[in-house]
Amino acid sequence: MRDDALSRTLLDWYDVHARAMPWRVPPADRRAGRRPDPYRVWLSEVMLQQTTVAAVRAYFETFTDRWPRVEDLAASPDDAVMAAWAGLGYYARARNLLKCARVVAAEHDGTFPDTREALLALPGIGPYTAAAVAAIAFDRPETVVDGNVERVMARLHAVETPLPAAKAELTAHAARLTPSERPGDYAQAVMDLGATICTPRRPACGICPWRDPCKARERGIAAELPRKTPKSAKPVRRGVAYLARRHDGAWLLETRPDRGLLGGMLGWPGSDWAEEVPAHDPPVAAEWRDAGEVRHTFTHFHLRLALRSALVGHIAPDRGHFVASDRFRPADLPTVMRKAFDLVSGPDA
Ligand code: ADE
Repeated sequence: MRDDALSRTLLDWYDVHARAMPWRVPPADRRAGRRPDPYRVWLSEVMLQQTTVAAVRAYFETFTDRWPRVEDLAASPDDAVMAAWAGLGYYARARNLLKCARVVAAEHDGTFPDTREALLALPGIGPYTAAAVAAIAFDRPETVVDGNVERVMARLHAVETPLPAAKAELTAHAARLTPSERPGDYAQAVMDLGATICTPRRPACGICPWRDPCKARERGIAAELPRKTPKSAKPVRRGVAYLARRHDGAWLLETRPDRGLLGGMLGWPGSDWAEEVPAHDPPVAAEWRDAGEVRHTFTHFHLRLALRSALVGHIAPDRGHFVASDRFRPADLPTVMRKAFDLVSGPDA
């Protein structure tokens, strides 16, 4: 099948099967001239990196209710945005999100630039987001390649080279198929196909619009693709976190440094994390007792975090600050810190 026939087939499928999403303009409305709001498209694409649509929905609603326009987000204090992002992970995204909103508000009159090149110049916008916003918000014929698109291309063209070596080849296939008509809908269509039909384990080839032209299906290897070069095992890091509660119920927390893992997020004071627990002092003098261990997996390592808890008096801590119980919201914590809180404050504690 020719490239333009392939993309037209997929657009026909998308016209019927496009997933409803709060940031998306459905294909019928798009044809009628309604345009997506670039702010919502940008926000959704940043949230969707490394995160599923299901996990993003509620966060997206919270953000857009609270900050309906990019100027509103730009004017928000950092800690409010970091707290609203808590649980989504990859917290550098939230810091860059805010930086980007402030540049768009201050230097672009609150209007997102409408080309991939100009979008790329904004803080925190990389090649994926620039292409996605240019295509989806502004209907530019840019090629959008995420994990879904790589999988679909690997199968359609039976690319057996493993990832990540196959990236350039898969991107070239994706670029060839990007149509000049409706590129925004097309970009979303390939991602939807990958998320709903051309799924990683058990692709539903029987109902796929690209069933006939798909080379991997023809060879019976669709579910095996894309092949992947095995990753080396993740190392284990160890650390200690201190959960101190004052008699009036306040918790001892600290805002983590902007740079580094969980940067800018609230957390429990503690040691650094390394192969062996690094030497450190508790954040405040107290009778610390062991309170279990939290395990959490980050992109590049597994963490084993030993917990210590204590009730403390009214003394100034060496690190961190006490947060009154009526101002402390566990949901504002990143997941690993939330797990620690749940363990220490849970029914068995
Ligand atoms: N995943 C990331 N961005 C997406 C989009 N715009 N549509 C569908 N799935 C996506």
